[in-house]
Amino acid sequence: MASTKYKHWQLKADSDNIAWLHFDKADSGTNTLGREVIDELSAVLDDMETERPRGLVILSDKPNGFIAGADIHEFARIENIDQAREVIRRGQGVINRIARFRFPTVALIHGFCLGGGYELALGCDYRIADDDVTTKIGLPEVRLGIHPGFGGVARLPQLIGAPAAMNLMLSGRAVSARAAKKIGMIDYAVPRRHLHEAACSLIQKPPKKLTASGWKAATNHALIRPLLARYLRKQVAKKAAKEHYPAPYAMIDLWAKHSGDSSAMLYGEEVSLARLVVGETAQNLIRVFLLQEKLKSLGDKKQFVPKRVHVIGGGVMGGDIAAWCALRGMQVTVQDREEATLARVIERAAKLYKKKLKKPRLVQEVLDRLTPDINGLGVAQADVVIEAIFEDIDAKQALYREVEPKMKAGALLATNTSSIPLDTLSDCLSDPSRLVGIHFFNPVAMMQLVEIVTAENTSPEVAAKAAAFTRHIDRLPLPVTSTPGFLVNRVLMPYLLEAVVIESEGISAKAIDQVALDFGMPMGPIALADTVGLDICLAVAETLSRTLYKDTKVEVPARLRALVESGKLGKKSGQGFYHYPANKKSKAEASNPGKGEYRPADIQDRLMMRMINEARACLREGVVSDAELLDAGIIFGTGFAPFRGGPMHYIEAQGVEQLIKKMHHLHESHGERFNPDESWLSTT
Ligand code: NAI
Repeated sequence: MASTKYKHWQLKADSDNIAWLHFDKADSGTNTLGREVIDELSAVLDDMETERPRGLVILSDKPNGFIAGADIHEFARIENIDQAREVIRRGQGVINRIARFRFPTVALIHGFCLGGGYELALGCDYRIADDDVTTKIGLPEVRLGIHPGFGGVARLPQLIGAPAAMNLMLSGRAVSARAAKKIGMIDYAVPRRHLHEAACSLIQKPPKKLTASGWKAATNHALIRPLLARYLRKQVAKKAAKEHYPAPYAMIDLWAKHSGDSSAMLYGEEVSLARLVVGETAQNLIRVFLLQEKLKSLGDKKQFVPKRVHVIGGGVMGGDIAAWCALRGMQVTVQDREEATLARVIERAAKLYKKKLKKPRLVQEVLDRLTPDINGLGVAQADVVIEAIFEDIDAKQALYREVEPKMKAGALLATNTSSIPLDTLSDCLSDPSRLVGIHFFNPVAMMQLVEIVTAENTSPEVAAKAAAFTRHIDRLPLPVTSTPGFLVNRVLMPYLLEAVVIESEGISAKAIDQVALDFGMPMGPIALADTVGLDICLAVAETLSRTLYKDTKVEVPARLRALVESGKLGKKSGQGFYHYPANKKSKAEASNPGKGEYRPADIQDRLMMRMINEARACLREGVVSDAELLDAGIIFGTGFAPFRGGPMHYIEAQGVEQLIKKMHHLHESHGERFNPDESWLSTT
């Protein structure tokens, strides 16, 4: 009999009296655990207590997965610790009720099974997952600045032992069904078609429940815990400072204190998580998550469904763009003037696929979608043509003249240019409104953000198609105007140049980089310049200083020019600001030791305020349309300390007055380049 009295859940009993509880969150493509869903689940469990089925199977009706976790939108609205504790208690409450049922309970998993979703599965006696590659199981809470709170810290170490459990929870990593089976997170990984049958047989003949035994169980022992906890704290400290990321430390403390005492642990989870969730780091990381959702929503996949992509230019960028598009399911042709370049593209692609897919059969499948095409035959069939040849106006225009007449009607023509105004490039087209910038960042496979660049005459429909395309290849579209440096390079450059100036004042590259790391940047500016390539930095800096920075008298530092002139181009040439030993295992050493560890007190402000000041200028000029998109672009494009929630949010948190004072002070002591953007004045 099926019960339809619920909005999100449906309970069906089969002829063997097994209850099948289907979760299908109303008005949502993904199952998440919010207040209404949990309250309703609690009412379903009331019914079950009276009906006493032979067993319970919990499963999802959503194609994309079981449960993706707690409802993060609700997390963002929590105002105080008491409210947070109440939300956590409710979640724990329903899962504990499932755990206490006297009949066997099974979680039947496919697709996403993350956070609160896996914690619910942990409350069941057994877990069976679809062994397809789309199954992803894990507790990623730490990535939002929190830790599991619906019993995950209590149950996972008991199930699989502390080392594996802490490793998963501290990294937030999600694993495949097979890996989950191997470490004991689930009981069985079976093909999708066998899931139903496997659940029935578990309920009819319930085996012993999984639990950590032997040395794995011993890792939770009171004598071992302090030692292991000390080791874990040391490991975490290498990756995340406690004052910026308190959650992993809180999680280790919880486990060390309460492991094995389930009620003390659940209470501990409640108190600790509530404190974290209202804290600054978690609220900022939740904000970043929501910003990411916002970027995703800017590309509507249904509006444009491209299948074939033609990339022209098989260099650093074109080659990697082509490889990435094929990996994400596109049929790709890649064109260059030289066969040897195309051979290198395929070689690099194969390396990427091996790393990502591991199995030779899967690697071959993707390689079959990537075709070298020296004669450019793919243009005529392509839904998207991406140009990534030399940064040269004449070369690009000559190419467009040749390509435009061959393209299908309605196909996208995109350029990856970093610095040439779109209007200049589109001048040569018979339909200039069809050119759009799809500006990828290097390395393409790692950088999620893509700038969608439009000029005045770019058709809005073309821009919307470009955004949809970036969603099809799993990147985040950021609409920007065709102004020098667009958004990301424009805000990054003053920060990099300031670092070069500081270095030429005799401060060591290492000390400068450390200051940026202390702020929370993923990489120091000097190391970043070396990684991007000093020749590329110089070219961008020169373009921007000719156009944008001419009023603020920002000059390209002589030191940067001198390094490039002497062939020291950074990592790729083995020498830049750092020296890179041929043996990759040895550490890079600063080529100019400067004043060793010494760092003047104001260098963090010098670096960060230049970036923040430029960000304000971009917003004022409308390079992006609002402050949220600005923050999103800078976080995903430059790695700007995510726990600070983006530069605009940072300004708000620090106080505008305070930062203006800093700007004035820097202006007085270091000159015109610290002239506060006029937008600061309108805020006071
Ligand atoms: P690259 O110099 O590595 O590659 C350019 C490739 O285009 C070469 O393999 C060349 O043989 C080929 N090519 C030139 N003219 C051609 C033609 N008419 N037909 C077919 N192939 C042709 O250049 P890179 O670095 O990949 O840059 C390409 C574009 O991407 C430029 O517009 C650049 O501004 C932009 N870009 C570069 C980034 C970087 O970090 N390198 C980052 C983002 C954008």
